[in-house]
Amino acid sequence: MSSPSDRVSNILDPQVRAYLELQGARGDAAGGGALDPSEQALHDRLQDLAVQRGFPLIGADAGRWLHLLTRMIGGRRVFELGSGFGYSAFWFARAVGSEGQVLGTEQDPWEHDHFDRLWADHPLRARVRLLAGDGIAALAATEGSFDVVFVDIHKRDYLAALHAAVPRLRVGGLLLADNVLWGGKVTRPAPADDQSGTDALRAYNDAIHADPRLVSLVLPTGDGLGVSLKLSD
Ligand SMILES: C[S@@+](CC[C@H](N)C(=O)[O-])C[C@H]1O[C@@H](n2cnc3c(N)ncnc32)[C@H](O)[C@@H]1O
Repeated sequence: MSSPSDRVSNILDPQVRAYLELQGARGDAAGGGALDPSEQALHDRLQDLAVQRGFPLIGADAGRWLHLLTRMIGGRRVFELGSGFGYSAFWFARAVGSEGQVLGTEQDPWEHDHFDRLWADHPLRARVRLLAGDGIAALAATEGSFDVVFVDIHKRDYLAALHAAVPRLRVGGLLLADNVLWGGKVTRPAPADDQSGTDALRAYNDAIHADPRLVSLVLPTGDGLGVSLKLSD
């Protein structure tokens, strides 16, 4: 199924992307990380709302990566900057296990209302707390360290999020960021109507690759998923 983020993600050849989506859906149905019927129903509710509204979700393929990467490091505590109504949080909530916690942040009250309505009584709801207001301020106000910090806020704030997030990750934890290929715009002269977003993402990509505390690569899934493993404080 195509992802609501199609309007920005044109990184992969469409046929290759369709093939990956098909394989991912097979895994959702039958693989070791298969969704149970109530998880599939929640997933579809979240995705349907995004399609209706043209809301930019991370998309299913990148969402599966969030799940797999979190499980690969035994992640239990996740902090998310920019949660919308919880689509990316859904993939993290599945990954952290019944004792795990996903702290999401969202500054738009409207998204909170949808989160409350769509997640309602779902069993995964107990693993997710959605905090109001600015995600970077909320991270500063939250105690403890995290296994994963995920960045999906306004692009101009990505560098600030990086600076705030790295000290809060445990060594061996992951900094993940959506949209780092920005529909391919990071490879070309910045368009006049989106210079600040494009420049901000280039600066973020340069920073994660130059930071001696991190080893980083961009996964060409969705709109580009920045993956940084924290090696040292
Ligand atoms: C791309 S959407 C998030 C999508 C979500 N991560 C997903 O894939 O399901 C970005 C969201 O971040 C919110 N946002 C932007 N800047 C923020 C900030 N500084 N703090 C908290 N939320 C922010 C926006 O209101 C918007 O709902």
